[in-house]
Amino acid sequence: MVVFLNGEYLPADQAHVGVMTHALSYGTGVFEGLRGYWNDEAAETYIFRAREHFERMLRSCRIMNFTLPYTVDELVEISRELVRRNGLRENCYIRPFAYKADEIIGVKLHGLTDHFTMYTVPMGDYVSTTGLRTGVSSWRRVDDNMIPARAKISGAYVNSAFAKTEALQNGFDEAIMLTAEGHVSEGSAENIFLLLNNELVTPSPSENILQGVTRDTVIQLARRELDRITRERQIDRTELYCADEIFFTGTGAQIAPVVEVDHRPIGTGNVGPLAAEIQRLYADVVRGRRAEYMDWCVPVFGKVARSKTPSAASHLAAAHNGHKPVRARSRHVAAGTTKE
Ligand SMILES: Cc1ncc(COP(=O)(O)O)c(C=O)c1O
Repeated sequence: MVVFLNGEYLPADQAHVGVMTHALSYGTGVFEGLRGYWNDEAAETYIFRAREHFERMLRSCRIMNFTLPYTVDELVEISRELVRRNGLRENCYIRPFAYKADEIIGVKLHGLTDHFTMYTVPMGDYVSTTGLRTGVSSWRRVDDNMIPARAKISGAYVNSAFAKTEALQNGFDEAIMLTAEGHVSEGSAENIFLLLNNELVTPSPSENILQGVTRDTVIQLARRELDRITRERQIDRTELYCADEIFFTGTGAQIAPVVEVDHRPIGTGNVGPLAAEIQRLYADVVRGRRAEYMDWCVPVFGKVARSKTPSAASHLAAAHNGHKPVRARSRHVAAGTTKE
C-alpha cells in the first residue's frame, strides 16, 4: 500500500506519526472521505465529486486554522495518483487527513505545524443498504459554537462514536442524533431525508449537520430526475415516527433506507419506493453510467475531461516543500520515526 505524506508517495509502513502528535492527543485534525467506484465496462475507477470533497476540506481547514499548500485541483490530482499507484481497479475509499503535527503538550489551534496525508483502501458497504433499524440517540449533536459540525474535524467524531456505540449496544443498526434543542440533525456519519406528506425534507445546514456531498447529490437528482424539490427545514423528533420513508445519505453509507425508528416501523416497515429509486439512480451516477453527470466522475486511469489539473507528481512535492513549516517537520519525521 502506498500513501501520500507531505508531498511524497511512500510505502505505508514508512509513514508514521509520533505518540506525542498534537492531533492524536487533542483531535486537531480535519479529514474527508471520498469513494472511488469501479466501472467494468469503462475499465475505469471514478472518484465521485472529488472537487466538492476537497472544497469542503479547504473550508474545514479555514475553520480549524490549517494552511495547506495545495489547491483543489492539486488535491484531486493527488487522489487520482494515489488510487493509480495502489492499482485499485475496484470500489475504494479515499481518506485525506490534515493534522496538527507538533509533538508538544498544549491545547490550541494556532502557531502549529500542519501535515497532510492521504491513503486509500478497498471498500464495500459501510452500513446495510437494505433497511436499517435506528434509535434516537441520548447523545446530542455538537453545536456550531462547541465543535462546528460543518467542518469534518477528527475530534468531533467522538460525538458520533458515542451515538453509534450506544445504538449498536441497544440492538439498533444506526443512531439518529438530535440537536441540543431537540430537533433532528443527522446520523452518526450520514445526513437524513424524510418523505413526509409526499414532501421530501431534510434538516437545514443550521441544524448542526455536516453538509454532505451525497446530500447535495440527492437534492439535485430528486429535482432533475424525479421532479421533487427538497425542503430544508427544522424537523421535530416525532416527525420521524410519522414519515412514510426515511433514508440516510453519505459517501460511506451511500443511500441507506431506514425501516424503523425507536421500534416504530417507518411507512410499511420496508424499503420505500422513493428511497429505492434514488438508490438506483445514485448507483448509476457514481459509476459514470449517466452521461449527463459525468462531470461528477473523475477518472483515475484515463484522461480527465476539461481538466485544469497540473498532473506532475513532482509539481505537488515542490508545492509541499515550498511550505516551510512542513519541510522542517518532514525532515524531523524522516530522521526520527520513518527510518528507525
Ligand atoms: C457526520 C456526517 N454527516 C454526514 C456525512 C455525509 O457526508 P458526505 O455525503 O459528504 O459523505 C458524513 C460523512 O462524511 C458525516 O461524517
